[in-house]
Amino acid sequence: MADIEIARRGAVLELTINRPAKKNALTNAMYRALNVALHEAERDLDIAAVLVAGAGGVFCAGNDIGDFVAAVSAGGEMAGADFIRKIAAFPKPLVAAVDGLAVGVGCTLLLHCDLIYATPESRFSLPFIDLGLLPEAGSSLLLPRRVGMARASAWLLAGESFSAAEALAAGLVNDIVAQDSLLATAREKAAKLAAKPRTALMAARKFLRGDKEEILTRIDAELEAFRNALASPQAQAALAAFLNKSK
Ligand code: COA
Repeated sequence: MADIEIARRGAVLELTINRPAKKNALTNAMYRALNVALHEAERDLDIAAVLVAGAGGVFCAGNDIGDFVAAVSAGGEMAGADFIRKIAAFPKPLVAAVDGLAVGVGCTLLLHCDLIYATPESRFSLPFIDLGLLPEAGSSLLLPRRVGMARASAWLLAGESFSAAEALAAGLVNDIVAQDSLLATAREKAAKLAAKPRTALMAARKFLRGDKEEILTRIDAELEAFRNALASPQAQAALAAFLNKSK
C-alpha cells in the first residue's frame, strides 16, 4: 500500500494519506507524490474536483519531523513548501474528509479546501509556536480571516487544540459527520461539485478564495520565517525532544 493512495471516482480524484502507523505524518516522498497528483489533477480535463482524506482514523499529524529535520539539515528543499504552494494555487474544488487528528500542516492545508467534513472524533492542533516554529501555509493570513482574530490567536499563538464542534462553530468545517458515513458524505459533496458547470464553478471559486498573489506572497514570507526559526536553539531542542521520545 502506498503512503499516498490515489484513486479516481468519476470526475473526482481521491488522495488518501495512508501512513497510520505514523499518524499519517507527511514525509518528503509523500509530499512529492501529492505534488505530482495535484499537478496531474490540474491538467486532467476529466477531473473536476479533488477529495483529500486520511486512512486509519487519523487525518494527518503534520510534517514528519524526522524526515524534514534530516532534509533541511542536509541543505535540501522542503517538498512540503512546494505542496503548500501547489494546494494554495490549485484551481479546482477541494473537499476534505477529516477523522481523528489534524495537526500542523494537516490542519493548515484545510484552509485551502472548499468543503470540509469532520467526525466528532476529530481534533485539530496548530503546535507551531510550542515547537519554536511559525505558522505556515498562509495560516497567519487565512485563519484569522476564516475564524476571527480571537480564535486564530488562541489556536495559533496559544497553541490551544480544538474539537470538531469548535471547528464547526468557528466556520472552519462545514459539518460534523459520523465516522461510518464520513467518506460517503465527502464523496457525495465532491461529486455534486464536480457535476456543476465547470467554468462557472472554477471562476466563482477563484473569486471566493481571494487574491492568490497575496496568499502566495504570505506563504513565501512564512516559509522564510519558518526556515529561520527551524535553525533556532528552541526549535532544535523541541524537535530533538520529539525525536528522542519516539526512539
Ligand atoms: N513526525 C514523525 N513521526 C510522527 C509524527 C510526526 N509529526 N506524529 C506522530 N509520529 C509517529 C510517532 O513518532 C510514533 O512513532 P513510533 O510508533 O515509531 O514511536 C507514531 O507516529 C505514533 O505516534 P504517538 O506519538 O505514539 O501517538 P499519540 O496518539 O500518542 O500522539 C500525536 C499523536 C500526533 C499527538 C503526537 O505523535 C505528536 O504530537 N506528533 C507530532 C505532531 C506535530 O508536532 N506535528 C507538526 C510538525 S511541524
